[in-house]
Amino acid sequence: MHCGTLVLFISLYLTLVGLCEPLDNGLARTPPMGWIAWERFKCTTDCKLYPDNCISERLFRAMADKLVEDGWKDLGYQYVNIDDCWSAMVRDINGKLQPDPDRFPSGIKGLAEYVHFKGLKLGIYGDLGHSTCGGYLGTLLETVDLDARTFAEWEVDMLKLDGCNSNSTERSIGYPKMSYALNATGRPIVYSCSWPAYEDGLLPKVNYTLVSQLCNLWRNYDDINDSWNKVIAIINWFGDHQEDLQPAAGPGRWNDPDMLMVGNFGLNQDQSKAQLAIWAILAAPFFMSNDLRTISDDAKALLQNKLLIYIDQDKLGQQGVRIKKDEDFQLWKRKLAHGQFALAYLNTAERGGAKSFSLSLPPLGIKDCAHGYNVYDVFDKKLVSFLNSNHTHSFRVNPRSVVLFFIRPVC
Ligand code: GLA
Repeated sequence: MHCGTLVLFISLYLTLVGLCEPLDNGLARTPPMGWIAWERFKCTTDCKLYPDNCISERLFRAMADKLVEDGWKDLGYQYVNIDDCWSAMVRDINGKLQPDPDRFPSGIKGLAEYVHFKGLKLGIYGDLGHSTCGGYLGTLLETVDLDARTFAEWEVDMLKLDGCNSNSTERSIGYPKMSYALNATGRPIVYSCSWPAYEDGLLPKVNYTLVSQLCNLWRNYDDINDSWNKVIAIINWFGDHQEDLQPAAGPGRWNDPDMLMVGNFGLNQDQSKAQLAIWAILAAPFFMSNDLRTISDDAKALLQNKLLIYIDQDKLGQQGVRIKKDEDFQLWKRKLAHGQFALAYLNTAERGGAKSFSLSLPPLGIKDCAHGYNVYDVFDKKLVSFLNSNHTHSFRVNPRSVVLFFIRPVC
């Protein structure tokens, strides 16, 4: 196609997409929660050597069992999500995607049945491109409709559509196309787009108005890994670019800073709190990528903290912002429903001991209310102070850690 014609075609397509109704599938009104295989289990496909840890239906069944048995499901962790490396290397004779037959002998539909029987939901992974990031079957522009129908036939509840091995033009056509194809199946499928992350995540290259009309959640930035360096890099990036990102989020549409690493090997208890606190302030999807069969009691207690989950899942759905930053310290604030707030004091120092802070309401733009505010320490699980415009609350924060407050008006 002549280049000018191609540009004209894409603009026409995007105009038409823009004129259609936005994605209003009624899903993910609060940030979705669950478990996903990728960071912990990667592309482990050798089930002889790693029978319990390879990407197979056995692994997903085991995690579904644990989500129910250990109370995760009751707290809202309801998605069991397959990531890369699940497919066979070729499509079937009808051109449909198919799972690796040895690792998924019941097929994805069989696995979905099992997961649904447990009262959970199943997520799957695809990639808009000639192959996935791990080299497995991709979704081409010509197969978007067929693949959406296949996922719906399998009774899948969520799709993460990655963007390796495609170019910007293909993504600008393919991501909207998949959104409409999923809607056309009539099955409610949460749509997670990695599109912004492949376009550097920022305005004007990323049109977040369009993205939030097409997708329920989207990756904006680099992959997380099991290290404090990566967690803090993501926190800094989200703070530095919050003017672009914050307005895009709301009920049914969420920025996704990537998986929760809590329960793995790289973060200590303090750093784990910091990841969880900032993710909750960001109204981030809560997808753990850990091993629920061997997770420590300490990590489990953090991930199952009810007040933390309450903050993340707040009904107002407003993403929080960083309101202060210096070399060793960041203050994050999220406005919650019913006049409530969450505040995270993040000590980013690389040396020294705990640092002292004091919390008072007026400088934070929190108006006094007739009977003041109760202040709860989320991780200590206790009421620590009562504040009105005359009081302050003093406390300490460990280095590479956070204190997360939940502030509730008494009036
Ligand atoms: C990309 C994504 C990751 C994961 C891998 C799978 O890197 O960002 O989250 O899905 O691909 O190969």
